[in-house]
Amino acid sequence: MGLKLFELKDKVALVTGSTRGLGEVAATALAKAGADIAVCGRNATDLNRVTAAIGGLGRNARGFQIDVTDKAKVAAAVDQILEYFGHIDILVNNAGVNHRVPVLEYPEEEWDRVINTNLKGYFLVTQAVAPQMIENGYGKVINMSSILSAVGLPHQVAYASSKGGVDQMTKVMALEWAKLGVRVNAIGPTYFETELVTQIRDDPERFNFINERTPMGRWGHLSELEGTVIFLASPASDFITGQTIYVDGGWTAW
Ligand SMILES: NC(=O)c1ccc[n+]([C@@H]2O[C@H](COP(=O)([O-])OP(=O)(O)OC[C@H]3O[C@@H](n4cnc5c(N)ncnc54)[C@H](OP(=O)(O)O)[C@@H]3O)[C@@H](O)[C@H]2O)c1
Repeated sequence: MGLKLFELKDKVALVTGSTRGLGEVAATALAKAGADIAVCGRNATDLNRVTAAIGGLGRNARGFQIDVTDKAKVAAAVDQILEYFGHIDILVNNAGVNHRVPVLEYPEEEWDRVINTNLKGYFLVTQAVAPQMIENGYGKVINMSSILSAVGLPHQVAYASSKGGVDQMTKVMALEWAKLGVRVNAIGPTYFETELVTQIRDDPERFNFINERTPMGRWGHLSELEGTVIFLASPASDFITGQTIYVDGGWTAW
C-alpha cells in the first residue's frame, strides 16, 4: 500500500511530443515513478537528448520519430514500440500546436494543422495503441487537454475547438473501454512556460492578464504537472475514468 499505489515499475509509457515542454515533463515524471519510456516526436536532436536524459534516470528509454498526423507512420511506429518493449501500459497523448489570430483571419491550413495534430492525432495514436491494452485488460490513456477545453479566449478558435474535442473524445473512449480495464482521462493545464506559449510569455500585457485571471495569481511551474500525470498513470486512479483534471491554479473554478 502507501506509495506503491503510485509505482510504475514494469510499466511502459508512450508519450507523444515528449521531445520538449510538457511532454518531456510527463515522460520524465513517469520515468521517475519507475516506468520505461517510448520518447516520441519529430525532431531527432531533441529525441536523442530526452532519451539520453531518461536513460540516465536508470530507465529503459528509446526514441521513436512519429508524426501523429500520419496514420500509416503512427501504426508503423506503434508496431516498433511494441516489438521493442513488448507492451504499452500508459499512453500520454500530448503532441500539440497552436496558431493565434482572430476568427475572420484564421487560415484554413492553420485550422487543419491544429485540428489534425491536437485532435485527430490523439485519435490516431489511441486507435493504434488501445487494442493491445484491451487485450491485456489494463491500460491508462492520458490526454493532455487545456483550460481552453472549458473556457474560451479570443484568437484561439482552432486550439479551443480541438481541446473541447479532446475532452469529449476522452469521455467516449472511457465509456467504451470502462469494463475492459482501460481508463481514459484528461489533464487540463493552464499556462506553463514552454515553447508553445513563448509569444504570450514575452508580451507583458498578456503575461499579466494570465496572472490576474488566475486565482493563485501566477502561471504554473513545470514540476506542478508531475503529480497529476503520475496519479492518472498509476493504480491510485484505477476507479477514475472519463474525467478532466484541471491543473490551473483555480482558473476554471470561476
Ligand atoms: N504550455 C502550456 O501552457 C500548455 C497549456 C495547456 C495545454 N498545453 C498542451 O500541452 C501539450 C504540449 O504543449 P507544450 O506547451 O509542451 O508545447 P511545445 O513545447 O511546443 O511541445 C510540443 C511537442 O509536440 C510535438 N509535436 C508537435 N507537432 C507534432 C506532430 N505533428 N507529430 C508529433 N509530435 C509533434 C513537438 O515535437 P517535435 O517538434 O519534435 O515534433 C513537441 O515535443 C499540447 O497538447 C498543448 O496543447 C500546453
